[in-house]
Amino acid sequence: MDVNPDKLNAFVGKMLGDVGAAMNASLMLIGDKLGLYKTLAAKGPLTSAELAQATNTSERYVREWLAAQAASGYVDYDTASGEFSMTPEQDMVLGNEDSPVFMGAVGSLISATFLDESKISDAFKTGKGVGWNQRSECLFCGTARFFRTGYKHHLVQEWLPALDGVVEKLKRGAAVADVGCGHGISTRLMAEAFPNSRFFGFDYHPGSIEAARQAAKDAGLGERVRFDVHSAKTFPAAGYDLVCFFDCLHDMGDPVGAMKHVRETMSDDGTCMLVEPFANDRLEDNLNPVGRIFYAASTVVCTPASLDQEVGLALGAQAGEARLREVARQGGLTRFRRATETPFNLILEARA
Ligand SMILES: C[S@@+](CC[C@H](N)C(=O)[O-])C[C@H]1O[C@@H](n2cnc3c(N)ncnc32)[C@H](O)[C@@H]1O
Repeated sequence: MDVNPDKLNAFVGKMLGDVGAAMNASLMLIGDKLGLYKTLAAKGPLTSAELAQATNTSERYVREWLAAQAASGYVDYDTASGEFSMTPEQDMVLGNEDSPVFMGAVGSLISATFLDESKISDAFKTGKGVGWNQRSECLFCGTARFFRTGYKHHLVQEWLPALDGVVEKLKRGAAVADVGCGHGISTRLMAEAFPNSRFFGFDYHPGSIEAARQAAKDAGLGERVRFDVHSAKTFPAAGYDLVCFFDCLHDMGDPVGAMKHVRETMSDDGTCMLVEPFANDRLEDNLNPVGRIFYAASTVVCTPASLDQEVGLALGAQAGEARLREVARQGGLTRFRRATETPFNLILEARA
């Protein structure tokens, strides 16, 4: 064994950081769920007793949680006063749900991957899929809240305007399908921005459609917004001007079939917008922090979801533009371009 001690030390150091992050993931979920981050950001500096009182929680647990947060660098600790606080930057990432860099909801996504781990381990052996409807409940709301940040800050402001002529149609009054809509956050954001247009959200997971309907009702969006249970290959035709797929085409078993269905249900002059996780075309170009998150999510969520469906193409969450272009082309959408991008998303425009 020819072990290089410097390389070994460096790797052990890296793993220490990773183990610390993994050990603290459930604490992040607890902080989000019990309002510990939000309360500390709003009312801090606070002692553990004050934070416990403000959140109706037990001081001994909160004290230990705060110590772990301070060790993680997620909150600040003042040794003189014994008080904890959050900087504006820590609040933007962990406390403030409306900030453009909010990541506080990721704990529920991570916990879903652990709750479903035995199903995924079995699937590694059998090669079978694990469908969206077989997953723990927290995956659905965790996904909705995790993606909301990007949609809230980019969809209406940047992504739709990057598509050729789409905003003008939406302003005049257009028909829009949001396929694989989940809890329908993207649908609602578009509906709120374009009051003359009609929006149809479709998802094959009944629980998500129920949640989307309730949220649209609570938002008072009325008859302009409808949600129905349909797969990407069965939703009804309505001469759509815009058909959107937000972070879901790669989850589908038959994305080519889905593209063919878009071609048949969309108007001849319509636009298909594919929002997919940012990825380069080659694995070696995705070996970075963003690729690391997406490959992990792809292994335990997206790939099993696709393998559970007919065809089971399993594009994976790092398919990349070239592969997605080929899927759209095979579905009859031959005009294809990258409309825009963020560090986390590719925004692709596909037209007949
Ligand atoms: C990662 S989630 C994204 C949800 C939502 N678009 C968002 O961005 O928050 C993927 C969604 O695709 C849906 N889905 C997967 N395969 C589908 C299919 N064949 N037809 C319709 N929906 C599908 C799942 O139920 C799930 O809601």
